[in-house]
Amino acid sequence: MTFQLTEEQLAVKQAAREFAQNELLPGVIERDNTQTFPAEQVKKMGELGFMGMMVDPQYGGGGMDTISYVLAMEEISKIDASASVCMSVNNSLVCWGLEKYGTEEQKQKYLTRLAKGEIIGAFCLSEPEAGSDATSQRTTAIDMGDYYLLNGTKNWITNGKSASVYLVMAQTHPEKRHKGINCLIVERGMEGFVVGKKEDKLGIRGSDTHSLMFTDVKVPKANRIGEDGFGFTFAMSTLNGGRIGIAAQALGIASGAYELALKYSKERKAFGQEIYKHQGIAFKLAEMATKIEAARLMCLQAAYLKDQHEDFALQAAMAKLFASQVAMEVTVEAVQIHGGYGYVKEFHVERLMRDAKITQIYEGTSEIQKMVISRAITKD
Ligand code: CAA
Ligand code: FAD
Repeated sequence: MTFQLTEEQLAVKQAAREFAQNELLPGVIERDNTQTFPAEQVKKMGELGFMGMMVDPQYGGGGMDTISYVLAMEEISKIDASASVCMSVNNSLVCWGLEKYGTEEQKQKYLTRLAKGEIIGAFCLSEPEAGSDATSQRTTAIDMGDYYLLNGTKNWITNGKSASVYLVMAQTHPEKRHKGINCLIVERGMEGFVVGKKEDKLGIRGSDTHSLMFTDVKVPKANRIGEDGFGFTFAMSTLNGGRIGIAAQALGIASGAYELALKYSKERKAFGQEIYKHQGIAFKLAEMATKIEAARLMCLQAAYLKDQHEDFALQAAMAKLFASQVAMEVTVEAVQIHGGYGYVKEFHVERLMRDAKITQIYEGTSEIQKMVISRAITKD
């Protein structure tokens, strides 16, 4: 297998890098401090085609491959992981799920605008009592004939307030357990749908994470994705691709911190020479670079398999598990290489260290990735 990138893929990477440097970097510290969602920047990401990268152009997307998506996610995450999680959810959970499993009517109505970034989507699986244990959905969708009556609470929802379209998992037939779950497309503004409080977070503070409350929301049957009871399979299948996006986010956070640490090590002098000339620092840089390279190859391999329409769930889980661990390790070392300057906001690495942690938690914690991986490798 070779990972020679095509000219088109390299151009996407360069465009994402320039966008991140020019549009995301200014203001990223301020947005982190004030917990401000990068609304203007996300709008521009839509105009540049980053919000529906893999969607077929007939539905307003960029028609690109998953490898290009990984490259863009890495570049954007190097600078602003709050913007990149919005991008990841919109691309790999919402747009991909709708394109793969939605009806033509659903695609025309929702996907075309989501893919262009005119509106943003959210993916709503987690609940106060159902996080890792996602089959235990308490939110209910009672079949009322031509509509579902939706009741319950979702929490931790990324793009919670900025989204216009929400893919909501809810239980219709509890006796069928996970096979009774449906995925409904809920629009912002539907009666009975309330966006709850915003979470005050350790990292990705620019991302708007909210709880959502549904009280007797009438959702038309036409808004169900797939057959009755398809919702959990929908969520799992979509999350397989989502995990490539988060792995690439973790990779970007790590490589962003590494680039800063490398640059700093060539500028900062101690004991009469640049600190990278001290073996203690040089070896840290060597380990960081090696781990990042391994994480990048794992992300690209998972993306490649997905692009080849091969089974990629195992490689996506492995890439997320490994890249998120690398993000933690590398960002901690990047702060260390910066010394005291690493501990203050101006030098960016402390934010990257805080942002890194979430990649071990969302879209399946590291323990859940190990569960997915161990089940796959021990299967007969
Ligand atoms: N791909 C496809 N199907 C899968 C799957 C996968 N990765 N993992 C499980 N399934 C299927 C199983 O095959 C099974 O289907 P059948 O009954 O038809 O065979 C069904 O799902 C139930 O699986 P299990 O029997 O293994 O159920 P379980 O309860 O023991 O474990 C789990 C399920 C893997 C732990 C699952 O609940 C899980 O992935 N939990 C983590 C939830 C998660 O990732 N949440 C992320 C929320 S979105 C988010 O976080 C976005 C963001 O931050 C930005
Ligand atoms: P729990 O499931 O309660 O887990 C607690 C601890 O126990 C973890 O360490 C976990 O790994 C461990 N654990 C649980 N079960 C096992 C087991 N069987 N074996 C070993 N260890 C286990 N969800 C969405 O649906 N949509 C979103 O957009 C979204 N965005 C998020 C954004 C942020 C900032 C955050 C913090 C979360 C987001 N989530 C979202 C939710 C996220 O996916 C969940 O937090 C995650 O799946 C873990 O669920 P939990 O928080 O309930 O932890």
